[in-house]
Amino acid sequence: MIQLTNITKSFGTLQVLKGIDLHINKGEVVSIVGPSGAGKTTLLQIMGTLDTPDTGTVIVDGIEITKLKDKKLAQFRNLRLGFVFQFHQLLPEFTALENICIPALIAGKNKKQAEARAMELLNFLGLAERAKHKPAELSGGEKQRVAVARALINNPAIILADEPSGSLDTKNKAELHQLFFDLRDKFGQTFVIVTHDEELSQLTDRTIHIKDGIIQYDNAQPAANNEQLSADNAQQPTDYGQQPADLSQQAEKNAATGQEESIESPA
Ligand SMILES: Nc1ncnc2c1ncn2[C@@H]1O[C@H](COP(=O)(O)OP(=O)(O)OP(=O)(O)O)[C@@H](O)[C@H]1O
Ligand SMILES: [Mg+2]
Repeated sequence: MIQLTNITKSFGTLQVLKGIDLHINKGEVVSIVGPSGAGKTTLLQIMGTLDTPDTGTVIVDGIEITKLKDKKLAQFRNLRLGFVFQFHQLLPEFTALENICIPALIAGKNKKQAEARAMELLNFLGLAERAKHKPAELSGGEKQRVAVARALINNPAIILADEPSGSLDTKNKAELHQLFFDLRDKFGQTFVIVTHDEELSQLTDRTIHIKDGIIQYDNAQPAANNEQLSADNAQQPTDYGQQPADLSQQAEKNAATGQEESIESPA
């Protein structure tokens, strides 16, 4: 689902990532941990097309995103990826419902379709009664669940989260973490979660520890060092045979037909 090969990234003279090789499978819930400044956010942003590596290739959902340009890249991000950040980043002047709709409207859905699906998600997250509330009228946990709904509205194959529970209390934190696993079980989405939260990293299928710009430990492959990991990854069969449809065509088709995907069949 996500294949990183020899990713390096520097900011000026600071080399943050020094050759990351990583293969994440469909439906895995993976946590990325490591000390502050280790490069976790940088790596997540590279996976999420929000930043580009200096060297290396990134294949996400069968597409080599390092080769996509501008419009196609934006379409790819909008349709295939969902983002959840530490501080929800909801737009304050819009209601919960409107915030959730935004990625769907960008993808060419009409307002009625977008709102219907946003309401399905709000129901699923137990927030139907908060639909008309603006972010300032929601609790921290509610805001974060609205942010998750916004990440889900286009049925992305992959959710990327950067310290999603970092601003939550214990109860809301536990609920949000449970939600990730529920979503994976229900919809088969792949989750990559950067976290400082011990409990969450212990719950995930796999924990990747980043330090000094390399993967120090990956419990999918214990005792493996980074070189061993790349060797193993090279031997793994990949499932990229299916060439994805042209994204701009797909978005145009969706816009033209008003085609709606069911919440029951995401990813
Ligand atoms: N745009 C940038 N320009 C210059 N330096 C940057 C930039 N982004 C990140 N860095 C530096 O790269 C290093 C890695 O940053 P990154 O945000 O990836 O760390 P992190 O592992 O997410 O840390 P934290 O746990 O504190 O969020 C840090 O030393 C940071 O100062
Ligand atoms: Mg970070």
